[in-house]
Amino acid sequence: MNKNKNVKHVYENTLESESLHRWLDAESSRRTPRTPEILLEMLGTQELDPKFKILDAGCGDGTHTLKLLQRFPNRITALDPVEANLSVLSHKLKEFSWNSKVDLVQASLEQMPLTDGEFSAVWCRGVLVHIQEIEQALAQCFRVLKPGGCMVVLATYSTDLIEPRELAELNQRFAFAPEGLSKERTESAFLGTGFRIEQQQEIGGEFAEHYESISQRSSVALTQVARLLRFEPEALRRFGKAAFDSALAMAHWHVYQMLGKISYHAYLLIKDETPSEIT
Ligand SMILES: C[S@@+](CC[C@H](N)C(=O)[O-])C[C@H]1O[C@@H](n2cnc3c(N)ncnc32)[C@H](O)[C@@H]1O
Repeated sequence: MNKNKNVKHVYENTLESESLHRWLDAESSRRTPRTPEILLEMLGTQELDPKFKILDAGCGDGTHTLKLLQRFPNRITALDPVEANLSVLSHKLKEFSWNSKVDLVQASLEQMPLTDGEFSAVWCRGVLVHIQEIEQALAQCFRVLKPGGCMVVLATYSTDLIEPRELAELNQRFAFAPEGLSKERTESAFLGTGFRIEQQQEIGGEFAEHYESISQRSSVALTQVARLLRFEPEALRRFGKAAFDSALAMAHWHVYQMLGKISYHAYLLIKDETPSEIT
């Protein structure tokens, strides 16, 4: 009897959920999801002395180094520990004849061969998630900034919605450090290093929603997960475990953002002219 009551309850609410979705459609076209452009806007709020350089710390293949270049006239130092990433960026720079504007440095954040106070801004997007010694990495970023300089960080945190096993697999497959995925740990490292948090925005899954709307990125990733699982033995044989794991991790990463298991946070950090007391 009770069970039947539940069935009635479920289906009545299913009908109601249709109007909920209509409302969500209307609301999300009125309030479109924030896009990665907000990071450039955060940097744009600062007066960047063009004499000083911008450091793209953990530049990857340089997709965002090029966006920085388009927006700011400063010289850029693009740093990444992975040679293959720097090589891709180097080719892109040659293509646009921008080589003279960018210095490429192969190093990690924890040990940067750069001069104290050399930069007016540090740009660090999606990198802390790989770093165990966050304090050491942030202390290096702090050191290379001039007083009054700023750091834009895009951090990615795990939420209560991710299951421990999903998180462990992601960490292992993507070489993530649990420290870099913790909001509490990362924010305390910002303050502990001497930065002041000038601005922060909880983005959650909005970038993922944005990418879904322009290129169906999460739907494609979801289909990729299904196919990787369906063809697992043969894919492993042909491409090897490392390639398989990294494809699965990347696809999960996009899907988890939409499911709220991973949440993006954007920060504007300031290195005050007069150092604040380290907490
Ligand atoms: C998700 S990618 C982000 C790349 C780029 N910032 C972007 O937004 O497209 C992470 C990058 O961090 C780099 N990385 C990993 N560990 C690092 C470390 N200890 N120091 C500096 N970069 C690191 C990787 O090589 C990779 O290029």
